[in-house]
Order: sequence, then C-alpha cells, then structure tokens
Amino acid sequence: DTGLITLDDGYANTGSAKSAITFIDGEKGILRYRGVPIEDLAERSSFIETAELLIFGELPDEEERADFRSLLTENSALHRDMRKHFDGFPVNAHPMSILSAMVNALQAHDIPEHRFTDENGFREAAASLLAKTRTIAAASYKSHIGQPIAYPRYDLPYAENFLHMMFSVPYRDYEATPEVAHALNMFLVLHADHEQNCSTSTVRMVASSGANLYASVSAGINALWGPLHGGANMGVIDMLEHIHEGSWTAKQYVDRAKDKHSGVKLMGFGHRVYRNFDPRARILKEAAHNLLDAMHIDDPLLDIAREVEQAALADDYFASRQLYPNVDFYSGIILRAIGIPLDMFTVLFAIGRTPGWIAHWKEVADDPRQRINRPRQVYVGPNLSQWVPRAER
Ligand code: SDX
Repeated sequence: DTGLITLDDGYANTGSAKSAITFIDGEKGILRYRGVPIEDLAERSSFIETAELLIFGELPDEEERADFRSLLTENSALHRDMRKHFDGFPVNAHPMSILSAMVNALQAHDIPEHRFTDENGFREAAASLLAKTRTIAAASYKSHIGQPIAYPRYDLPYAENFLHMMFSVPYRDYEATPEVAHALNMFLVLHADHEQNCSTSTVRMVASSGANLYASVSAGINALWGPLHGGANMGVIDMLEHIHEGSWTAKQYVDRAKDKHSGVKLMGFGHRVYRNFDPRARILKEAAHNLLDAMHIDDPLLDIAREVEQAALADDYFASRQLYPNVDFYSGIILRAIGIPLDMFTVLFAIGRTPGWIAHWKEVADDPRQRINRPRQVYVGPNLSQWVPRAER
C-alpha cells in the first residue's frame, strides 16, 4: 500500500508511461520507431528522416523533407552571444558539460515565445535543437583543440556536415567518404530513441512540470553522461585498450567482471530490457567490420572486442544472467575509425538521441491528461523522534 498509482489512474507517478513512439520487445530483440523496424531505418533512412519519423509520427514526403531541411539550415548557426559562453569554459572542460550547459543556455537565446505553443513554432524549435546540438558539439571540439570553428555547409547532409564542422580546417575542407558517412548516419539512427531509458525518462520527468524543450533536453544530456548509460561507449574503449596494453587477457578481464568485489564491469554488456541480443549491437558489429574493411584499418580493439564477446557468451555467469552486448559494445570501434576523439563519444550518443528526447517532450507536453510526475517511496527511515536541545545531544 505504497500509494502507487497504476497506469489506469492517469499517468502513473511511478515514472511509468504510455507512449506511441518506440516499441521494444526485449525477449525477441525487436526495436521499432513508430512501428518501423530499426533494421530498415538503419540501412535505408537518413538520420534526419528518422528524426522526422520519431518527432512528427511518420516518414516525411519530399515536400516535408525539403521544408525541414530548410529549417535545419536556417537554424544551425548559434546566436553571436552564445559564442561568448565557449570562451568561459576551461580548455579541458568535458564536451558533455559544455553540451548540457549550452543547450540550457538556448532558453535565453533561442526561445521566441511562439516556439512552444503552435505546431509551426514547435517544428522550428525541433529543427533548431537538432541543428544546434551538432553545431555546439563540433564547436566545443574546435575550441578544445584551439582551432577556428568551422561553419556548417548548406550543401551537406547532416552527418557529413557534422564531420565537416569537426575536421575541416581553413586551408582544407574535410570530405567524408561514402562509407564513413553511411557508418555515422547508421550510428545516429540506431541511437535516436529507446523508449523509457534513463535519460529519456529524465526528459519526460522535467517536461511533466511544464518546463520547455531546451530545459528538459539539457537535463536528459546530464542523465546520459553517466557511465552506466551513455558514458558506457567510452568505458568500452577504455576496457579494450586495457586488455590491449596487456594488463589482462580478454578471458581474465571477463573473469574479473564476474567478481562483484572487483569493481570491474563488462562495459557494453547487459541491458535492463533486452534479455537476449540488442538488435542495435548486431547491426553495429557488422557495420564496424565493414567500415574497417572499407578503410583498410586493422584495429586490434575490434579483434579484442570479438574475443571478449566470445569469452563472455561462453561463460555461464553471463548466459545465466542474460547478459549480451548492448548498443555501446561495438559503437566505439566505429567512432574510433572515423577519428572521433574518445571524450566526444557520449556527445555523439547525445546528438543521436536528441530526436527521441524531442519526441518524448512533445508527447508529454501535448497530453491533456498528463500530470506532473510525482514518484512515491517506501519509507525506511527512523520512526517518530523527539527534538533534543544541542547541549543534551
Ligand atoms: C545504455 O535503458 C536503455 O535503453 C539504455 C540504452 C539506451 O539506448 O538508452 O540502451 C543505452 O545505457 C546501454 C547500457 C550501457 N551500460 C553499460 O554497458 C554498462 C555495463 N552494464 C551494466 O552496468 C548493466 O548491465 C546495465 C546498467 C546496463 C543494466 O543494469 P541492470 O538491469 O540494473 O542489471 P543489474 O545491475 O541488476 O545486473 C543483474 C546482474 C547482477 O548480478 P547479480 O546481482 O544477479 O549476481 O547481472 C550482473 C550484475 O552484477 N551484471 C553484470 C553486468 N551487467 C549486469 N556483471 C558484469 N558486467 C556487466 N556489464
């Protein structure tokens, strides 16, 4: 009798939700965005087309696609005053701290009142946030390495434009190869939404109080940063490099991860919902192999990742707990091959997840029955206690 309210009594204040955006079947390894299988989207849709599916509920036709592309272009530059914030961050500031702070600052620079009340205003705000997270991420990298910021090109698709903004220098434009562009686009599509994960639930929690889109997404970025959530893609590379440096063999590392007292987890393994394979991990494993082949890169970490996976899947500890590779296990291999620096890996996850956060914010904001989330608790603290004057304590 903890007073938990079920879904039938309006939206539970337990943090559970009714949603029409993403469907997961953890037993069967099924993931669908608005009913469309992730396998089809990863191979055949652009990231922005996938974002429009998640945010507006269906795949865009040519006219809708052209209209949204224009909105992205018109909204990709930062307000001049936003640039001053970059100068305030220390050079070694983590890019996730910059991203969450700058998205939060958008409330001050980028929020004409109409944006959140009518459909056109929301379309523009959604385009603005999708475009600006990419601009902020690339600009934070350029500021970190002391290079001039590269402005977006208006002839490039989203993924290629991000790579241009990351790697172009005044004397030479970066041109992504088709294989690299496809791999990054697939990475972003596969990260675009995942129903009620920690960071998306955070966005919904903040949205339930009536907070605006930027405030809610900034909170989601901070939740994603945690090492058990979006930070795991960096943890996987650290783990693989640890093994590569010869500290332990793959099998020895897997054995340590079974020991609760070791403080070691198999990063990129396990999932609260998938009790079988994570469909995204399957796609990313093949994409990593194909990209390294196409780029003629022989990355020992890919071989080590395969050894770790084989050793874990052959071990009853992991099989009995239904622990399999998740989205983070192979994604870092792709980002490494593209040349994304390690401390930007979770930023790439955040850029990918932005459409999902926008879609969930809108679902909460639009629902007339939505109530402020107010989880209850089971109280385990002290019984009634008397107040005692300090001299007698
Ligand atoms: C993401 O929710 C989402 O959808 C998230 C995400 C998304 O798209 O938004 O999919 C993205 O966050 C993927 C997960 C990335 N994190 C990691 O790879 C970090 C390593 N994984 C674990 O920390 C863990 O598996 C979680 C956090 C992913 C899931 O944690 P759970 O569901 O709370 O599982 P648990 O901690 O209850 O573990 C159950 C058992 C425990 O052992 P016992 O107490 O039963 O003896 O499995 C063990 C755990 O010790 N276990 C692991 C393990 N994961 C679970 N043991 C070793 N290594 C691991 N990775």
